[in-house]
Amino acid sequence: MKIKTADRLNVVSEYYFSRKLKEIAALRQKGIDVINLGIGSPDRAPAAGVVETLVQEARNPKNHAYQSYAGIPELRRAYAEWYQRFFQVTLDGDTEILPLMGSKEGIMHISMAFLNPGEEVLVPDPGYPAYAAVARLLGAKVRYFGLQENNRWFPDLEKLEKEDLSNVKLMWVNYPNMPTGAKASPEIFEALVRFGHRHNILIVNDNPYSFILNGEQLSMLQVPGAKEVALELNSLSKSHNMAGWRLGLLAGHPEYVKAVLQVKSNMDSGMFKPLQLAAVKALQQPESWYSELNRVYGKRRETAFALFDVLGCQYDE
Ligand SMILES: Cc1ncc(COP(=O)(O)O)c(C=O)c1O
Repeated sequence: MKIKTADRLNVVSEYYFSRKLKEIAALRQKGIDVINLGIGSPDRAPAAGVVETLVQEARNPKNHAYQSYAGIPELRRAYAEWYQRFFQVTLDGDTEILPLMGSKEGIMHISMAFLNPGEEVLVPDPGYPAYAAVARLLGAKVRYFGLQENNRWFPDLEKLEKEDLSNVKLMWVNYPNMPTGAKASPEIFEALVRFGHRHNILIVNDNPYSFILNGEQLSMLQVPGAKEVALELNSLSKSHNMAGWRLGLLAGHPEYVKAVLQVKSNMDSGMFKPLQLAAVKALQQPESWYSELNRVYGKRRETAFALFDVLGCQYDE
Protein backbone atom coordinates (compact mmCIF):
# COMPACT_ATOMS: atom_id res chain seq x y z
CA MET A 1 0.00 0.00 0.00
CA LYS A 2 1.42 3.37 -1.06
CA ILE A 3 -0.67 5.92 0.74
CA LYS A 4 -0.34 5.97 4.52
CA THR A 5 -3.60 5.77 6.47
CA ALA A 6 -4.45 8.21 9.28
CA ASP A 7 -2.84 7.70 12.68
CA ARG A 8 -6.25 7.09 14.25
CA LEU A 9 -6.34 3.69 12.59
CA ASN A 10 -3.54 2.66 14.97
CA VAL A 11 -5.92 2.87 17.92
CA VAL A 12 -8.73 0.64 16.64
CA SER A 13 -8.88 -2.64 14.81
CA GLU A 14 -11.62 -3.71 12.45
CA TYR A 15 -14.91 -4.02 14.35
CA TYR A 16 -14.93 -7.17 16.51
CA PHE A 17 -18.06 -8.67 14.95
CA SER A 18 -16.86 -7.84 11.44
CA ARG A 19 -13.76 -9.99 12.09
CA LYS A 20 -15.75 -12.73 13.83
CA LEU A 21 -18.32 -12.97 11.03
CA LYS A 22 -15.49 -13.42 8.51
CA GLU A 23 -14.06 -16.25 10.66
CA ILE A 24 -17.50 -17.87 10.78
CA ALA A 25 -17.94 -17.54 6.99
CA ALA A 26 -14.53 -19.20 6.49
CA LEU A 27 -15.47 -22.10 8.80
CA ARG A 28 -18.79 -22.54 7.03
CA GLN A 29 -17.01 -22.68 3.69
CA LYS A 30 -15.07 -25.62 5.06
CA GLY A 31 -18.40 -27.31 5.79
CA ILE A 32 -18.34 -26.68 9.55
CA ASP A 33 -21.81 -25.89 10.91
CA VAL A 34 -21.36 -22.90 13.24
CA ILE A 35 -24.17 -21.73 15.50
CA ASN A 36 -23.61 -18.01 15.83
CA LEU A 37 -24.58 -16.78 19.28
CA GLY A 38 -22.33 -13.75 19.02
CA ILE A 39 -24.55 -11.06 17.60
CA GLY A 40 -28.18 -10.41 18.51
CA SER A 41 -29.56 -10.48 15.00
CA PRO A 42 -33.24 -11.52 14.85
CA ASP A 43 -34.08 -14.40 12.50
CA ARG A 44 -37.81 -13.63 12.18
CA ALA A 45 -39.77 -11.24 9.96
CA PRO A 46 -41.05 -7.77 10.88
CA ALA A 47 -44.75 -7.37 11.70
CA ALA A 48 -47.44 -7.85 9.06
CA GLY A 49 -47.94 -4.68 7.08
CA VAL A 50 -44.42 -3.33 7.60
CA VAL A 51 -42.92 -4.80 4.43
CA GLU A 52 -46.13 -3.96 2.50
CA THR A 53 -45.83 -0.32 3.58
CA LEU A 54 -42.24 -0.24 2.36
CA VAL A 55 -43.19 -1.75 -1.00
CA GLN A 56 -46.24 0.48 -1.54
CA GLU A 57 -44.42 3.64 -0.57
CA ALA A 58 -41.45 2.73 -2.75
CA ARG A 59 -43.85 2.66 -5.73
CA ASN A 60 -44.68 6.32 -5.20
CA PRO A 61 -42.33 8.40 -7.42
CA LYS A 62 -42.59 11.27 -4.94
CA ASN A 63 -40.89 9.23 -2.22
CA HIS A 64 -37.40 9.02 -3.73
CA ALA A 65 -36.08 12.50 -3.04
CA TYR A 66 -33.65 13.54 -0.30
CA GLN A 67 -35.32 13.61 3.09
CA SER A 68 -35.06 15.89 6.12
CA TYR A 69 -31.86 15.37 8.15
CA ALA A 70 -33.98 15.08 11.28
CA GLY A 71 -36.29 12.36 9.89
CA ILE A 72 -39.87 12.84 8.73
CA PRO A 73 -42.26 14.33 11.32
CA GLU A 74 -44.49 11.22 11.15
CA LEU A 75 -41.61 9.06 12.33
CA ARG A 76 -40.54 11.43 15.09
CA ARG A 77 -44.13 11.57 16.30
CA ALA A 78 -44.48 7.78 16.13
CA TYR A 79 -41.32 7.40 18.25
CA ALA A 80 -42.74 9.92 20.76
CA GLU A 81 -46.03 8.00 20.95
CA TRP A 82 -44.13 4.73 21.37
CA TYR A 83 -42.17 6.19 24.31
CA GLN A 84 -45.39 7.50 25.84
CA ARG A 85 -47.27 4.21 25.35
CA PHE A 86 -44.62 1.81 26.62
CA PHE A 87 -42.26 3.87 28.80
CA GLN A 88 -44.66 6.60 30.03
CA VAL A 89 -42.03 9.14 28.97
CA THR A 90 -43.31 12.32 27.34
CA LEU A 91 -41.10 13.52 24.50
CA ASP A 92 -41.63 16.32 22.04
CA GLY A 93 -41.45 14.69 18.60
CA ASP A 94 -40.22 17.96 17.11
CA THR A 95 -37.31 18.67 19.42
CA GLU A 96 -36.54 15.72 21.69
CA ILE A 97 -36.22 12.88 19.20
CA LEU A 98 -33.72 12.26 16.44
CA PRO A 99 -34.24 9.24 14.15
CA LEU A 100 -31.01 7.34 13.57
CA MET A 101 -29.75 4.45 11.49
CA GLY A 102 -29.66 2.23 14.55
CA SER A 103 -28.27 2.96 17.98
CA LYS A 104 -24.78 2.01 16.83
CA GLU A 105 -24.71 5.08 14.64
CA GLY A 106 -25.81 7.18 17.60
CA ILE A 107 -22.80 6.00 19.63
CA MET A 108 -20.50 7.66 17.10
CA HIS A 109 -22.59 10.83 16.73
CA ILE A 110 -23.02 11.37 20.47
CA SER A 111 -19.31 10.82 21.03
CA MET A 112 -18.43 13.29 18.28
CA ALA A 113 -20.84 15.86 19.68
CA PHE A 114 -19.59 15.66 23.28
CA LEU A 115 -16.03 14.36 23.52
CA ASN A 116 -12.86 16.38 23.16
CA PRO A 117 -9.48 14.66 22.77
CA GLY A 118 -8.10 13.76 26.18
CA GLU A 119 -11.46 13.76 27.94
CA GLU A 120 -12.47 10.55 29.68
CA VAL A 121 -15.35 8.20 28.96
CA LEU A 122 -16.65 5.59 31.37
CA VAL A 123 -17.24 2.34 29.51
CA PRO A 124 -18.77 -0.89 30.90
CA ASP A 125 -16.65 -4.03 31.00
CA PRO A 126 -17.94 -6.38 29.70
CA GLY A 127 -19.85 -4.33 27.16
CA TYR A 128 -20.70 -3.48 23.59
CA PRO A 129 -17.38 -2.84 21.81
CA ALA A 130 -18.42 0.32 19.91
CA TYR A 131 -18.36 2.58 23.00
CA ALA A 132 -14.60 2.23 23.49
CA ALA A 133 -13.66 2.02 19.81
CA VAL A 134 -15.41 5.29 18.96
CA ALA A 135 -13.86 7.06 21.97
CA ARG A 136 -10.41 5.97 20.85
CA LEU A 137 -11.03 7.14 17.29
CA LEU A 138 -11.78 10.58 18.71
CA GLY A 139 -8.68 10.70 20.92
CA ALA A 140 -10.74 10.46 24.12
CA LYS A 141 -9.58 8.26 27.02
CA VAL A 142 -11.44 5.06 27.78
CA ARG A 143 -11.92 4.31 31.48
CA TYR A 144 -13.51 0.90 31.98
CA PHE A 145 -15.74 0.21 34.97
CA GLY A 146 -16.31 -3.43 35.83
CA LEU A 147 -19.74 -5.00 35.93
CA GLN A 148 -19.65 -7.63 38.65
CA GLU A 149 -22.08 -10.41 39.42
CA ASN A 150 -21.99 -9.55 43.14
CA ASN A 151 -23.27 -6.07 42.29
CA ARG A 152 -26.02 -7.52 40.02
CA TRP A 153 -24.01 -6.37 36.97
CA PHE A 154 -24.46 -2.70 37.88
CA PRO A 155 -21.70 -0.10 38.03
CA ASP A 156 -20.26 0.32 41.52
CA LEU A 157 -20.95 4.05 41.79
CA GLU A 158 -19.59 4.31 45.35
CA LYS A 159 -16.26 2.92 44.21
CA LEU A 160 -16.20 5.22 41.19
CA GLU A 161 -16.88 8.23 43.38
CA LYS A 162 -13.74 7.53 45.39
CA GLU A 163 -11.76 8.15 42.20
CA ASP A 164 -11.00 11.45 40.46
CA LEU A 165 -13.87 12.00 38.02
CA SER A 166 -13.06 15.59 37.12
CA ASN A 167 -11.98 14.74 33.57
CA VAL A 168 -14.90 12.37 32.86
CA LYS A 169 -17.37 13.77 30.34
CA LEU A 170 -19.56 10.83 29.39
CA MET A 171 -20.64 7.46 30.75
CA TRP A 172 -22.12 4.62 28.70
CA VAL A 173 -24.62 2.32 30.32
CA ASN A 174 -26.74 -0.33 28.65
CA TYR A 175 -29.79 -1.71 30.45
CA PRO A 176 -31.24 -4.21 29.78
CA ASN A 177 -27.62 -5.23 29.58
CA MET A 178 -25.71 -6.97 26.87
CA PRO A 179 -23.99 -9.38 27.47
CA THR A 180 -25.05 -10.12 31.08
CA GLY A 181 -28.82 -9.88 30.55
CA ALA A 182 -29.18 -7.77 33.73
CA LYS A 183 -32.23 -5.54 33.93
CA ALA A 184 -32.14 -2.08 35.40
CA SER A 185 -34.60 -0.87 38.03
CA PRO A 186 -36.05 2.60 38.56
CA GLU A 187 -33.66 2.86 41.54
CA ILE A 188 -30.52 2.13 39.52
CA PHE A 189 -31.56 4.61 36.85
CA GLU A 190 -32.22 7.19 39.55
CA ALA A 191 -28.80 6.55 41.10
CA LEU A 192 -27.15 6.96 37.69
CA VAL A 193 -28.97 10.22 36.99
CA ARG A 194 -27.98 11.57 40.41
CA PHE A 195 -24.37 10.50 39.72
CA GLY A 196 -24.52 12.41 36.39
CA HIS A 197 -25.82 15.53 38.14
CA ARG A 198 -23.22 15.36 40.94
CA HIS A 199 -20.27 15.03 38.60
CA ASN A 200 -21.52 16.82 35.51
CA ILE A 201 -21.28 13.67 33.43
CA LEU A 202 -23.54 12.89 30.48
CA ILE A 203 -25.04 9.44 31.09
CA VAL A 204 -26.17 7.67 27.94
CA ASN A 205 -28.36 4.59 28.24
CA ASP A 206 -28.19 2.35 25.20
CA ASN A 207 -31.58 0.65 25.36
CA PRO A 208 -32.05 -1.60 22.29
CA TYR A 209 -33.12 -4.62 24.37
CA SER A 210 -35.98 -2.89 26.19
CA PHE A 211 -38.63 -5.20 24.72
CA ILE A 212 -36.75 -8.49 24.78
CA LEU A 213 -37.72 -10.79 27.66
CA ASN A 214 -38.09 -7.95 30.12
CA GLY A 215 -41.70 -7.85 31.23
CA GLU A 216 -41.86 -4.12 31.69
CA GLN A 217 -40.18 -1.37 29.72
CA LEU A 218 -37.80 0.90 31.59
CA SER A 219 -36.19 4.07 30.34
CA MET A 220 -33.62 6.24 32.06
CA LEU A 221 -35.70 9.20 30.93
CA GLN A 222 -38.43 8.13 33.39
CA VAL A 223 -36.30 9.60 36.20
CA PRO A 224 -37.33 13.17 37.09
CA GLY A 225 -34.57 15.58 36.02
CA ALA A 226 -32.98 12.97 33.74
CA LYS A 227 -33.10 15.07 30.60
CA GLU A 228 -30.54 17.51 32.00
CA VAL A 229 -27.81 14.87 32.19
CA ALA A 230 -29.04 11.78 30.33
CA LEU A 231 -29.67 10.67 26.79
CA GLU A 232 -31.19 7.44 25.59
CA LEU A 233 -30.68 5.41 22.45
CA ASN A 234 -33.27 2.94 21.28
CA SER A 235 -33.74 0.85 18.19
CA LEU A 236 -36.14 -1.23 16.12
CA SER A 237 -33.41 -3.79 15.42
CA LYS A 238 -34.34 -6.27 18.15
CA SER A 239 -37.81 -5.09 19.22
CA HIS A 240 -39.25 -5.26 15.67
CA ASN A 241 -36.99 -7.77 13.91
CA MET A 242 -35.59 -4.99 11.74
CA ALA A 243 -31.85 -5.12 12.43
CA GLY A 244 -30.89 -4.92 8.77
CA TRP A 245 -33.17 -1.97 8.08
CA ARG A 246 -31.13 0.35 10.31
CA LEU A 247 -33.72 2.20 12.34
CA GLY A 248 -33.13 3.71 15.74
CA LEU A 249 -33.50 6.89 17.70
CA LEU A 250 -31.93 9.27 20.12
CA ALA A 251 -34.16 10.78 22.80
CA GLY A 252 -33.39 13.56 25.22
CA HIS A 253 -33.08 17.27 25.91
CA PRO A 254 -33.63 19.47 22.82
CA GLU A 255 -30.19 21.10 23.22
CA TYR A 256 -28.41 17.73 23.28
CA VAL A 257 -30.45 16.42 20.37
CA LYS A 258 -29.59 19.59 18.42
CA ALA A 259 -25.88 19.08 19.12
CA VAL A 260 -26.03 15.51 17.83
CA LEU A 261 -27.93 16.64 14.73
CA GLN A 262 -25.18 19.19 14.13
CA VAL A 263 -22.77 16.25 13.73
CA LYS A 264 -25.11 13.85 11.97
CA SER A 265 -26.40 16.31 9.37
CA ASN A 266 -22.82 16.83 8.23
CA MET A 267 -22.32 13.10 7.76
CA ASP A 268 -25.44 11.67 6.15
CA SER A 269 -28.79 12.65 4.70
CA GLY A 270 -32.29 11.62 5.79
CA MET A 271 -33.26 7.96 5.46
CA PHE A 272 -35.30 6.65 2.51
CA LYS A 273 -38.88 7.86 3.09
CA PRO A 274 -40.61 4.46 2.50
CA LEU A 275 -38.31 2.99 5.15
CA GLN A 276 -39.33 5.69 7.63
CA LEU A 277 -43.03 5.15 6.85
CA ALA A 278 -42.60 1.40 7.32
CA ALA A 279 -40.98 2.15 10.69
CA VAL A 280 -44.08 4.15 11.67
CA LYS A 281 -46.16 1.07 10.88
CA ALA A 282 -43.86 -1.10 13.01
CA LEU A 283 -44.14 1.31 15.94
CA GLN A 284 -47.95 1.15 15.81
CA GLN A 285 -48.09 -2.59 16.49
CA PRO A 286 -50.37 -3.69 19.31
CA GLU A 287 -48.98 -5.17 22.49
CA SER A 288 -49.59 -8.65 21.11
CA TRP A 289 -46.64 -8.12 18.72
CA TYR A 290 -44.24 -7.92 21.66
CA SER A 291 -45.88 -10.77 23.59
CA GLU A 292 -45.60 -13.08 20.59
CA LEU A 293 -41.95 -12.12 20.09
CA ASN A 294 -41.27 -12.84 23.75
CA ARG A 295 -43.19 -16.10 23.67
CA VAL A 296 -40.79 -17.35 20.98
CA TYR A 297 -37.69 -16.04 22.75
CA GLY A 298 -38.96 -17.41 26.06
CA LYS A 299 -39.18 -20.92 24.60
CA ARG A 300 -35.71 -20.59 23.11
CA ARG A 301 -34.38 -19.45 26.46
CA GLU A 302 -35.83 -22.56 28.11
CA THR A 303 -34.04 -24.69 25.52
CA ALA A 304 -30.80 -22.78 26.13
CA PHE A 305 -31.13 -23.28 29.92
CA ALA A 306 -31.78 -26.99 29.40
CA LEU A 307 -28.61 -27.21 27.28
CA PHE A 308 -26.59 -25.29 29.89
CA ASP A 309 -27.82 -27.73 32.55
CA VAL A 310 -26.70 -30.70 30.47
CA LEU A 311 -23.32 -29.02 30.01
CA GLY A 312 -23.06 -28.15 33.71
CA CYS A 313 -22.85 -24.39 33.04
CA GLN A 314 -23.82 -21.74 35.59
CA TYR A 315 -26.06 -18.93 34.46
CA ASP A 316 -28.32 -16.09 35.65
CA GLU A 317 -32.00 -16.91 35.18
C1 LIG B 1 -25.69 -3.05 23.45
C2 LIG B 1 -25.94 -2.80 22.02
N1 LIG B 1 -26.00 -1.54 21.58
C3 LIG B 1 -26.24 -1.26 20.29
C4 LIG B 1 -26.41 -2.27 19.36
C5 LIG B 1 -26.64 -1.89 17.94
O1 LIG B 1 -27.99 -1.78 17.67
P1 LIG B 1 -28.52 -1.13 16.34
O2 LIG B 1 -28.85 -2.23 15.42
O3 LIG B 1 -29.70 -0.33 16.78
O4 LIG B 1 -27.44 -0.23 15.80
C6 LIG B 1 -26.34 -3.60 19.76
C7 LIG B 1 -26.50 -4.69 18.77
O5 LIG B 1 -26.20 -5.81 18.96
C8 LIG B 1 -26.10 -3.88 21.12
O6 LIG B 1 -26.01 -5.13 21.57
